[in-house]
Amino acid sequence: MTVTLAFDVYGTLIDTQGLVTMLRGMVGDKAAEFSRTWRERQLEYTFRRALMQNYVPFSACTAQALDHTCALYKTPLGPDQRTALLDAYRTLPAFSDVADGLALLRAAGFRLYAFSNGTAEAVRTLLDAAGVADLFLDIVSTDDLRSFKPNPAVYSHFLRMAGATGAETWLVSSNPFDVIGALSAGWRAAWVKRSPDALFDPWGIPPTATVPDLRHLAAAIAG
Ligand code: LAC
Repeated sequence: MTVTLAFDVYGTLIDTQGLVTMLRGMVGDKAAEFSRTWRERQLEYTFRRALMQNYVPFSACTAQALDHTCALYKTPLGPDQRTALLDAYRTLPAFSDVADGLALLRAAGFRLYAFSNGTAEAVRTLLDAAGVADLFLDIVSTDDLRSFKPNPAVYSHFLRMAGATGAETWLVSSNPFDVIGALSAGWRAAWVKRSPDALFDPWGIPPTATVPDLRHLAAAIAG
């Protein structure tokens, strides 16, 4: 059986906390906390918009979440700073294990896809910047359905696009909500737990496998 791997992008391949140094020059000591809140608010906006069927692209959720976070922390940014942050978000860095890990999986014969809330164009820009775009067969975006994870329809859409079944497909994600979304849609799912402090939701729906980084994935899937 050829196994298909659907990689979540933001937070799994790409480090959404990668702008903390840049933020420190704008919001000072609150930078790390600000960055986490920005990410949490961005995801909250995607959940709410998917539920309300009131779609805007992921980049708009990111921009609106930034504005909300600035208001929350009482740290107004100038228009140039705001533009600089949102531009930098388009080329956030990849985690250090990603290039090696993906190359190993590709060489081992897995079918690799990127599967994201980001538009295909935004994801392509990130994967190009990280130098890993060529390792993927394709990019599947929830934008095709004008919705977001974990709407069950986006996991079905991925299977149709990849020509795969849930039984032969693994989601690979650091985001517990995404792992639970895929498991609920009948897929396997690996949780990439890079930090020992990362928490999984206590819903009684555990990941099929948990790995510390992508270099351990092939063994976990075989195991
Ligand atoms: C993504 C979000 C979940 O890349 O970060 O789909």
